[in-house]
Amino acid sequence: MEEVVLNIIDREGILHTVEFPNEQGYNLMEVLKSLEFEVAGTCGGMALCASCHVYVESETDLKEMSQAEILMLDSVFTTQSNSRLACQIPLSESINNIVIRLAPIE
Ligand code: FES
Repeated sequence: MEEVVLNIIDREGILHTVEFPNEQGYNLMEVLKSLEFEVAGTCGGMALCASCHVYVESETDLKEMSQAEILMLDSVFTTQSNSRLACQIPLSESINNIVIRLAPIE
């Protein structure tokens, strides 16, 4: 698969469906930044800041959360059961058609 379809709901509730090149080594935080969504990615993808917090609204089968991701999300006020850190989600064919909603900025 050469492109991955991403459905991104911004903080105004607007859905953006984009096709992004399926290149190895990128994560969803980097993709969101490159598409100029308001995602800071302050820690550079180390699961240490939660500025890439998103809600996953599709049934996408994601890899289990690491302990670092669980601990970081535990410290965030707006965490929900479908919360993930976008920097911990690798860009790959397996997330094709994912629906994510940007979490509020804390
Ligand atoms: S960029 Fe800091 S936790 Fe994702």
